[in-house]
Amino acid sequence: EKGGYEHFMLKEIFEQPKSIHDTLRGRLLVEEGIIKMAGIWDNLERLNQAQKITIIACGTSWHAGLIGEYLIEEFARIPVEVEYASEFRYRNPIISEKDIVIAISQSGETADTMAAIKMAKERGAFVYGICNVVDSSISRVTDAGSYTHAGPEIGVASTKAFTAQLTVLSLIALKLGKHNGHLSNQEFMRLITELDTIPQKVQEVLETTHEITKEIAKNFVDAQNFLYLGRGYNFPAALEGALKLKEISYIHAEGYPAAEMKHGPIALIDENMPIVIIAPKKGHYDKIVSNVQEIKARKGKVIAVVNKGDTQVASVADYVIEFPETSECFSPIIASVPLQLLAYYIAVYRGANVDQPRNLAKSVTVE
Ligand code: F6R
Repeated sequence: EKGGYEHFMLKEIFEQPKSIHDTLRGRLLVEEGIIKMAGIWDNLERLNQAQKITIIACGTSWHAGLIGEYLIEEFARIPVEVEYASEFRYRNPIISEKDIVIAISQSGETADTMAAIKMAKERGAFVYGICNVVDSSISRVTDAGSYTHAGPEIGVASTKAFTAQLTVLSLIALKLGKHNGHLSNQEFMRLITELDTIPQKVQEVLETTHEITKEIAKNFVDAQNFLYLGRGYNFPAALEGALKLKEISYIHAEGYPAAEMKHGPIALIDENMPIVIIAPKKGHYDKIVSNVQEIKARKGKVIAVVNKGDTQVASVADYVIEFPETSECFSPIIASVPLQLLAYYIAVYRGANVDQPRNLAKSVTVE
């Protein structure tokens, strides 16, 4: 059942080249230069005329939503807000018939997300669902939607569902941008050609980082805290990396936008503080380099997640994890994979039950 893997979580991490490929299949048609998504196409006018899009979700799906915000605002130029479903439903949010709500849920059963959708619908919003479980409650109440095709996710900590959510959000943002004229045909072609290579690059990052993350993990079995930093598209990836570690290893971890470090968390840094920093070559690389120098000046232990061949960050970091280069907007899909492996191995070495972490349930059907 676990296909020779010790845990479902590890199996699901390794399934990602396939699950991303399956999520793209039949939708991303590079040769024809189109993205085919019935849920978007059938509602194109409504979606593109939206005054704003509100993304609602919980947990890992909320992190995917944050990346969705960056994608949709960059490529389709529609204002996006991302809210925790639990906050949205209890705070009388401003939502009208002109609004679009995108609900993201792996299980399609999360109570808070369900309640938030009902409220948005009562106020006349058009609700688009991104679910993994086919025919789940959320997929049935939404007005339209696109499934992620990640396949069943058994490990409580979400991995392949997350990268599949990012894949669907990328498709949606690019398709909206193409049809509303904000994305030139040339740029659209460049991006879809790159998106098409992501399953292969995820395969590569699995192969090249599996052993190294395992080795790095051994050094942090007794860590009490972790910081995860990233900028731009990789800020939510930092939040997700921290959540993975918390959930399965029970080590306290926090994610931050790297530039926020000096507004507080820098006070925590000493020789006992491990800091995972996601620093691809694209997107404010120089700023990240100075963040790393600030951390090293305070003796923090830096685990740098950088592009293949990086020398600048790599030369000052204590540990280096390399991943293949891609467009900044797709980099969280690839960079998240070694972070999943790192969390997994730290938890395994601590003897934790990674597939069934204490106090957590796979679908949270109570609020
Ligand atoms: C994280 C995790 C949870 C879920 C959250 C939302 O690994 O599993 O944070 O992401 O409970 O669940 P769904 O996506 O099913 O609505």
